Amino acid sequence: MTCRVGVFTGGGDAPGLNAAICGLGRRLAAAGAELIGFEDGWRGLIHDRSRSLQDANFQHLLVYGGTLLGSSGDNPYRDPAVNVPRVLATVARHRLDAVVAIGGEGTLGAAHRLFRDHALPIVGVPKTIDNDLEATDFTFGFFSAVEVVTRAMDDLRSTAESHGRVMVVECMGRHAGWITAYAGVAAGAEGVLVPEREAHLEALCERLQRLRQSGARSAIVAAAEGTRIFEDGKCLSSTERDEFGEYRIGGVAELVARRIQARLGWEARHLVLGHLQRAGRPTAFDRIFALRLGARAARLVLEGRFGYMAAMRAGEIVDVPLEAAVAARKVISDQFLDRYEAFFLPVGGP
Ligand code: F6P
Repeated sequence: MTCRVGVFTGGGDAPGLNAAICGLGRRLAAAGAELIGFEDGWRGLIHDRSRSLQDANFQHLLVYGGTLLGSSGDNPYRDPAVNVPRVLATVARHRLDAVVAIGGEGTLGAAHRLFRDHALPIVGVPKTIDNDLEATDFTFGFFSAVEVVTRAMDDLRSTAESHGRVMVVECMGRHAGWITAYAGVAAGAEGVLVPEREAHLEALCERLQRLRQSGARSAIVAAAEGTRIFEDGKCLSSTERDEFGEYRIGGVAELVARRIQARLGWEARHLVLGHLQRAGRPTAFDRIFALRLGARAARLVLEGRFGYMAAMRAGEIVDVPLEAAVAARKVISDQFLDRYEAFFLPVGGP
C-alpha cells in the first residue's frame, strides 16, 4: 500500500520553507510515497484544507522565499478540546501514515504533545529566523535574515556618516538575540543590544561618547526587539506581559535613539527592519540546509521513526527527539557574549 504523508508549514514564515518541502517531496517521491500539503499551518489540519503535492514540480520552487502552503500561528492547543480531535480526525480521514510539521517552537511544541499524548505519527523540521530552537545548531531562515540585516546596516553607514548621526536598527528575534548578534558583529556595529543582557543606557552612551571623542562621525547600534532597556536603574521597556507571560517586545530602537540624542546631543535616528527580515529569497546556504532537513524528515517517515526532528549538529544532519527541541528556548550563552565583549553592551552593567 502507498505511504501517505501530510506536510504543513506553521508559524512565521522563513526563507527556505519551499526548499524544505522540496527536499521532503523529492525523497518521498523517489520512495513511491504520496505527499499531501495542508494549508496555513495547523489551521489546515484543524479545518481539513489540503491539496495534493503528488505531481508538484518542486525543482524551481526552492529558490523562493515564503511558503507555497501558506502559514499561520494557529495551534490546536489554543482550544484543545475542540481542535485536537479535529486534527486527529483529519489525519484519519486522509489515511495519513505520517505528518511532517515544518515550524518553530510553537508548531513543534504542539507536534510533540500530539505525538506524546495521542501517538500521532509526526516528525519535525526546524525553521525560524530567530534560531531559538534547542537541539539544533541552527534553524533554516536564520542566515537569510542575518544577511538582510547585515546588508541594511552596511548600507546605512553612508547616510549615517554623511549626516554625522547614530543609527539604531531594530532587529527581530523575539526573546533571543541571535539575528542581532550575528548581523551586528558582521556589520561592525558600535553597539549590540540583545535580550540576553540588560542594556543600560549610561554604558551605551559612555561608549558612544568615547568613540565620538576619538573622531567618529557616526555609529550604528543593532538593537534586538526583545532587549530590556534601563536608565538610572529604572527599566524603560514595557513591563506589560502577553498571554504567555512574556514581556511585550518592540519599540526598542526608537526609545534608544531618543535617549542617545537626549543624553549626548548626538543626532540619532531609528529604523525598524521588521518583516523585511523574513522576506526575499533564501541564501544558498539556507536552500541547501532546508533541502537536507526535508530529505532527512522523509527518511524518518520512511523508517517509521516518529516523534523526532531533523537537526544540524556540528555540521551534520542528524535526528533528535522533538521533546529535546522544545524543552527550552535556545538563547545566546554567556560564553558567546563574553567572546564578543567589545560589541555587547553593557558588560557588567553601568
Ligand atoms: O518568530 C519569528 C518572528 O519573525 C519574530 O522574530 C517576530 O517577533 C515575530 O515573528 C513577528 O511575528 P508576526 O509576523 O506575527 O508579526
